Amino acid sequence: MPVRYLPQTTPDHLRGTWREARPARIAAALADALQRPTHGWLVVAASSELGSDRTLLRTVAGREVVLWRDSDGSLLAGRGACPHLGARLADCLVVEGTVLCRWHGMQLGRDTATPWATYAAFDDGVLLWVRVGEVEEGVEPTDRPVLAARPRIEESLASVISLAADCEPRDIVQNRLDPWHGAWLHPYAFSDLAVDDDASSNDRLVLDVAYRLGRTFAVPVRAEFTCPDSHTIVMTITGGEGTGSVVETHATPLTAPGTHPARTVMTEAVVATSDRMGFRVARGMAPLVRVGMRASATQLWADDLVYAARLYELRRSAAER
Ligand code: FES
Ligand SMILES: [Fe+2]
Repeated sequence: MPVRYLPQTTPDHLRGTWREARPARIAAALADALQRPTHGWLVVAASSELGSDRTLLRTVAGREVVLWRDSDGSLLAGRGACPHLGARLADCLVVEGTVLCRWHGMQLGRDTATPWATYAAFDDGVLLWVRVGEVEEGVEPTDRPVLAARPRIEESLASVISLAADCEPRDIVQNRLDPWHGAWLHPYAFSDLAVDDDASSNDRLVLDVAYRLGRTFAVPVRAEFTCPDSHTIVMTITGGEGTGSVVETHATPLTAPGTHPARTVMTEAVVATSDRMGFRVARGMAPLVRVGMRASATQLWADDLVYAARLYELRRSAAER
């Protein structure tokens, strides 16, 4: 039975969570994650945020980037300032894959007089990516980002939230590489959390945890955390309710490298699946369920971004000493 009678107990001091959450172990997992190249690809928005008739403007690593759709729906991206007099190309009309600047109507597209789709861009169906990040030393830029395995789109429900904090991408990844904090920092969401040391390694964390449905009931699951690239951490449910569901956390720098204070946006995509009847009903009510999914993820991330910002603050003050 997926939902269990699992009354919430007061925090179990005797289990000594803090002893298990060894700083050296978290640091080793982070070092491993930071070595995985992005090939310059960064998540910039949810696919659902970009229609066919208007542009979207994002700041990524200190650069303005305009996003729009070509006439076949594919994603295009270019610099966010108009080459005429520098207007921000935000919320501009798009006609047949061509952006019309809001100030004087200059036409900017893939094949216009000034070709404007200068950045490689990719729409994976849930998230939009642009190749504007630093390409790591010794690796080549690639045609598409490193994508994690997800459930099939027609059998799942996707929901995306974004929140920004004063930190660097690595702080967001590090927060996720410390699953031990779950039952302490988010007691409203998690309990009975145990990392499976035998199944875990530096590049794979496996844990059992119960998702709380209030004080009395919870849904136990087994989950696995991996980092496909240095700015992404993926949680896959491998056992229990929602097996195959994926939660992707992407950290995208807003500020240019070396800028302080650094600011980073966390984009989390939940791609949920289940073979249960209740889930089929939920799919039918998708817009409403998405609001609920977003609300609970937002509460978790409000706490986690305070944690990430604290890591950044500590690193900064240590560097200044
Ligand atoms: S600033 Fe864009 S057309 Fe003039
Ligand atoms: Fe957390």
